[in-house]
Amino acid sequence: MNISIKTLEEIKKMRIAGKLAAEVLEMITPHVLPGISTEKLDQLCNEYIINVQKAVPANVGYKGYEKTICASLNNVICHGIPNEKKILKDGDILNIDVTVIKNGWHGDTSKMFLVGKCAPHNERLVKVTQECLYKGIEVVKPGAHLGDIGHAIQTHAEKNYYSVVEDYCGHGIGSVYHEEPQILHYGNKGEGLELKEGMCFTIEPMINQGTKYTKTLKDGWTVETKDGRNSAQWEHTLTVTKNGCEILTKRNDEHQ
Ligand code: MF3
Ligand code: CO
Ligand code: CO
Repeated sequence: MNISIKTLEEIKKMRIAGKLAAEVLEMITPHVLPGISTEKLDQLCNEYIINVQKAVPANVGYKGYEKTICASLNNVICHGIPNEKKILKDGDILNIDVTVIKNGWHGDTSKMFLVGKCAPHNERLVKVTQECLYKGIEVVKPGAHLGDIGHAIQTHAEKNYYSVVEDYCGHGIGSVYHEEPQILHYGNKGEGLELKEGMCFTIEPMINQGTKYTKTLKDGWTVETKDGRNSAQWEHTLTVTKNGCEILTKRNDEHQ
């Protein structure tokens, strides 16, 4: 395995791309309301990235994907394709995942939205999944192992009677969208690659109310839970620092 270590100059560029990706999610937040289509949300993000940020929407053309965001509703785990017929309704839970390229460097992030008034079980899924992301981030520092991240996430998910999706994972990121290493959201402490200052990767746990099993629809993209129950995901891009890590895609609505 050849894991790239980014220089300070490169991390500066990752910081810019990460900030832009976070700002797309901030921009779209007030639009995520009952009655809007996921296609319209995609259009708004596309125009913002191109016209305001003067950046590139990384998903467009990626392995044949045609949209700017992934919009994954309720029982969709990830890679939901925006569509004018998918209209948000009261009580939906939605993940929007966006990646921006600026000056050749990537920032990849996603968040969950509670559309209107949601059932307590959905609110709890969304909240616990965000906690899983933060618990994974908390253990990142030089000398820690990838298994420590997976273990922190899996422990919190299972304590809450949820399951961790194993078929998709986080990834190294930089001038390449998806690079080594794979970041599993389950695992054992002390196992796997040792983290080093300057590594950049995403953590993006997908947590299910029911079983961990997935199925991909005939469109070749949309990944749903096999049992039809709901799933949530949150994603950040981060870099390993001397003492811990820096979240490159942090939004203003997050504390610290
Ligand atoms: N942003 C996703 C990730 O977190 C990948 C989306 S690929 C797409 O890695 F083609 F579906 F957009
Ligand atoms: Co993403
Ligand atoms: Co990602």
